[in-house]
Amino acid sequence: MTTGGDADTWGYNGALLGPTLRVRSGEQIRVNVRNDLDEATTVHWHGMRLPAACDGGPHQKIEPGATWSPTWKVFQPGATLWYHPHPHGSTEVHVYRGLGGMLLVDDDETTSEHLPHRYGQDDIPLIVQDKTFDEFGKFVEADRRGVGMLGTTLLVNGAVGPTFQVTSELTRFRLLNASTARSYSFGFSDDRPFHIIASDGGLLDAPVSVDRVRLTPAERVEIVVRMAPGERVVLHSYPQDLGAPGIPTGADDQFDVLPLIAAGKLRPSPQLPHRLTRVRRLDPGTAVATRDFELRSDRINDEHMDMARIDQVVTVDTVEIWHVTNVSLVPHNFHVHGMQFQVVSVDEQPPPAELAGWKDTVFAPPGVQLRLVMRFAKYSDPDLPYMYHCHLLWHEDAGVMGQFVVVKPGEEAGTVTTGLDWP
Ligand code: C2O
Ligand code: CU
Repeated sequence: MTTGGDADTWGYNGALLGPTLRVRSGEQIRVNVRNDLDEATTVHWHGMRLPAACDGGPHQKIEPGATWSPTWKVFQPGATLWYHPHPHGSTEVHVYRGLGGMLLVDDDETTSEHLPHRYGQDDIPLIVQDKTFDEFGKFVEADRRGVGMLGTTLLVNGAVGPTFQVTSELTRFRLLNASTARSYSFGFSDDRPFHIIASDGGLLDAPVSVDRVRLTPAERVEIVVRMAPGERVVLHSYPQDLGAPGIPTGADDQFDVLPLIAAGKLRPSPQLPHRLTRVRRLDPGTAVATRDFELRSDRINDEHMDMARIDQVVTVDTVEIWHVTNVSLVPHNFHVHGMQFQVVSVDEQPPPAELAGWKDTVFAPPGVQLRLVMRFAKYSDPDLPYMYHCHLLWHEDAGVMGQFVVVKPGEEAGTVTTGLDWP
């Protein structure tokens, strides 16, 4: 409950969250990031294929007062990505205080006339977060249980209790779970079906009709919902099974996320196409290696994260299978930097259609085994690792993270020299 005091929030170019950045596939971009905080941080481009030096993980530290200006060429399909801080050991708190924003990659298919694509009208970003406020309206940064901090108040695009006026027959929502720990099961109050058109890394082959969609921290989905003139329906988060009985996960909590109120007369929308794109399949049969990752509540494969240690050395331009098992009793998810992967199987079964496109973060409930197939892009630097980790940020900060480098054939891992002086 809030009594209307001022929370101490952090933001990019403003008090909370940050501007939506839009780039086009094929474009060379440069971002200037000045750190006006009085502690060091980083800015990570979550879901981007990019050189490790531009990634914004804990090796690209920005000291107070300093400016970091990475530049790279965007070469991936259109997608809903995001950006957030990644300081070693305090990512959870930096994100919780408000740092984060959307990063949209456009291409001809994602901005097609056949999809709702007018930003702010029928193409709407929704950044969903949970916070707890004290009686003075300040953020409460304590009370971590099982998965981390579970807030009691929902924020959508940084606002408490907003509503959305629908003006078109079809509206596309780009949903981002930017919470530090909570997972959501989104659906509409009348259980109406809606279409999922895109996952983390871009469009699915075809729209998938569902009445619920789960997002664990950092996952995104683009959905399209149809409304009739004058209708009212609420986007809601429902109780869900996170596979962790007895562990506090927030799975039983319910929230009204966003009431949608349709105008009396709606702008006509095109029919959703039957085919959205052709997702280029990575063939697990071409994998040159399979690596095993066992997730525990504070480590992966018996090792806590160590900034100086390179855990995996992969060869550029090869395909691998990463076999991820949650051997703990708490839910995790698994995120890999610098790329998009595909889910081959969940407990040896093919994934549901909404998980069959490009992903960079995937849910891993207790006991589950995931097989992920991934190709390592051209960038090579034996001294500068990318991260893989659980995106429940309390777990990440506690050490459920590891590092990989992408090297030329036959090359050895180098020596890490960056990011060694975090407090
Ligand atoms: Cu979204 Cu390593 O993070
Ligand atoms: Cu975890």
